[in-house]
This record gives sequence, structure tokens and C-alpha cells, in this order.
Amino acid sequence: MQLPVSMTMPPSDRIYLDNAATSWQKPPSVYEAVDRYMRFNGAPAGRGAYREAVEVERLVNDARKRIANLIGASDPKRIVFTSSGTDSLNLAIHGLLRAGDHVVTTVCEHNSVLRPLRHLEQELGIAVTRVECGANGIVDPTSFAAAIQSSTKLFVLTHASNVTGAIQPVEEVGMIAESRGIRFLVDAAQSLGHIPVTADQLHADLIAAPGHKGLLGPLGTGVLYVAPGVEELLSATRQGGTGTSSESDQQPKTLPDKYESGNHNVPGIVGLGAALTYLSERGVDDIRQHERELTTRLLDGFRSLDHVTIYGPQDAERRVGVVSIAIDDYDPQEVATMLDAAYAVQVRSGFHCAPLMHSSLATRERGGTVRFSLGPFTTPDQIDRAIQAVGEIAASAI
Ligand SMILES: Cc1ncc(COP(=O)(O)O)c(C=O)c1O
Repeated sequence: MQLPVSMTMPPSDRIYLDNAATSWQKPPSVYEAVDRYMRFNGAPAGRGAYREAVEVERLVNDARKRIANLIGASDPKRIVFTSSGTDSLNLAIHGLLRAGDHVVTTVCEHNSVLRPLRHLEQELGIAVTRVECGANGIVDPTSFAAAIQSSTKLFVLTHASNVTGAIQPVEEVGMIAESRGIRFLVDAAQSLGHIPVTADQLHADLIAAPGHKGLLGPLGTGVLYVAPGVEELLSATRQGGTGTSSESDQQPKTLPDKYESGNHNVPGIVGLGAALTYLSERGVDDIRQHERELTTRLLDGFRSLDHVTIYGPQDAERRVGVVSIAIDDYDPQEVATMLDAAYAVQVRSGFHCAPLMHSSLATRERGGTVRFSLGPFTTPDQIDRAIQAVGEIAASAI
């Protein structure tokens, strides 16, 4: 079989800076675990008593335990497997909200928060307040407090922006929510695996995240953490077979089965388990330090160039490894195409599924930004080559 060029290019020739979309490369143990499962096991999880099915069940439970450990969850059963960050956010939002509820969120959110909320505004009659963020993309926690109404049921906030990389004051917002009896949903899509995230510290009732970004697992994986007691308020948005209580046609009420109908994405979860082993061995603190150093290098490099504007906090301490820029006179899409074609630098351009953020940054009219996002396997040399490529393009701007 003839493989497309992009699947045959040696990894060293690609400068992959699109880790905010999905991380690549993954730890080698992830590829090995998926391959091993697909070739030699192939059984479903939670649905058989034969050797391979029991082994799969053990692997799925192990992945669940590792995520629980990572975020300090009291019980692995509080970790629900989903198919993506979007799937986790949809379960949290649709499962929790009822007609007449009010929600406070921000203009910094991804469409996987904005669109379910807009849908429920139109279809169910919920009310939504979208608070602004400051010039550096960071939200003032007091704006959440100021937006509270008697019907406010939920706060939703992204931990780190997928456009500016800005780390939001989730802890402060969580404390406001807790003190006012409001539920708090954190979108940890750009933070989990990159910076420490713990349920208690965030005062979070629900934490939604993909398994395929900072957690380094395969695409098609996601997780939702459900804090003690929240399962009583959170409806299951899908019903079906769980492999448990099969004698009954009622959806189980117990965690995690209540929210996990249908066969699991076992290759994905097994790969995610291997990725979590890598993460715990290397340590999130080590990854944070590596990414902070490279982000500083990238910011310093871009700052030294004429015709380049950087969006979001200027200091790597206040952001994850996501950096959005614009080059004078250039359309972001044009820049991304040139970067790939001439320099093999692979980035994402446009609105990054965060339309309101671009109104706030005043980048809407110019077609968004060019986003560079790094990961645990990005090297200083790759960052330097990206800066040089941007420098050469920017030098040709009038
Ligand atoms: C901030 C944020 N939230 C949610 C998502 C959705 O995650 P997924 O791609 O796994 O659906 C993304 C994806 O880019 C994101 O950046």
C-alpha cells in the first residue's frame, strides 16, 4: 500500500507545533500498548470472563486509577471515560442544566462550551452571562461574582486558553462558586498534563479534559471527573448497555456506569493508560518546566522580530505552551501555509474554535491568529527554527 507523504515523512523532519489540537509525538509506550492490544487481545471491557476480557478490564481500571491519582480524585469511579474533551463538556453541561437555570462563563471559552450553552439558551430557555477577559486574556474573578443571579446554577471556565495560553484564576473562581453554592465546571483541555491540576485546589465539581492532548493518549479519548454528590444532579445524556446490571432495562445509577453506555474505545484507553504511566514517571512538574523554558524562548524570539504581535500574557509563568501571533499585512492562513510548505513548521491558523475570544483580542477582522503550541517532546532547536521561519516571513512584510 502506498502511504501519503505526510505519513512517511520521518518525525525529525516535521516541526509539529499543533499540540493544542492534539499532542504528537506520543511516548513510544503508547504506540506499543495500542498495537499489542489490537494484535493480541482485542476483547471488550467489562463484558466477559475469559482471560483477555479480564486483562482488558484490569487495563481500563488501571488507566482510571492513574487519572484519579493525577487529579487527586478520592475514588477512581469518579473518572468517567468519554470520547473527547467536547464529549466530556457536553455531558457536564447537558447533564446538569435545566430550564430556567443561569450560567456564568467567559468569552475565552472554546466552542465545546459556547455551542452547548448557546443551544440550551435557544432550546431550553437557560440564561447565560459571558464575562469579558482583560487585554492579556485573563479573566477577573470578581466579574464572576458580579454576574451571579438567584438562578445561577453553574460557572464554566477554561483553565488555560487554547488561543492565548493564558492561565485563568480558576482557584479564585472556584472559591466564589463554592461559597455561593454554585456548581463549577473546569475545562482542563489545555492544562491537564501540562500544569498541576487537582480537583480540591480548583474547588471543581466537574473537570472535563481530552485524553489526547496533554495526557498524551490517542485521539478518541476523553475524561470527566465528577465530584462527590454531583452524580445526584448530573443526568446521563445517553443510555445503553454497560456490561453491568444486565438483567435490568434501567440505566444504572452507580458511577461510572451511569455515564458510560456502549463499548469503550479500548485501544484508546489502553494507549492512554500507557501515556499516564509515562506522565507519572516523568512528572507533570518536569513537563511544566520544559514547556515553560521553551515558551520563554519562543516569546523572546518573537518579541525580537519586527512586524510580529504576540497575544496574551507576555510572561511564560502566566501561560501554558500556547502562543498566538499575527504578522503585519499577512493573513494567518497564508502564514500557516508558508510555514508548512517552506519550513515544515506545522501550526494552526484562524479562530481555533474560540470565536468570542477573537472579538475580545480584536483579531476577528484579520482572520484570527497563527498559533504555535508545544509539548513535552518539542526541542529548543525546533523552537529556534520556528522563530527563524517567522522572522523570514515577517521580514518580507511591508
Ligand atoms: C480549551 C478547549 N476546550 C475543549 C476542547 C475540545 O477538546 P476535543 O478536541 O478533545 O474535543 C479543546 C480542543 O481544542 C480546547 O482547546
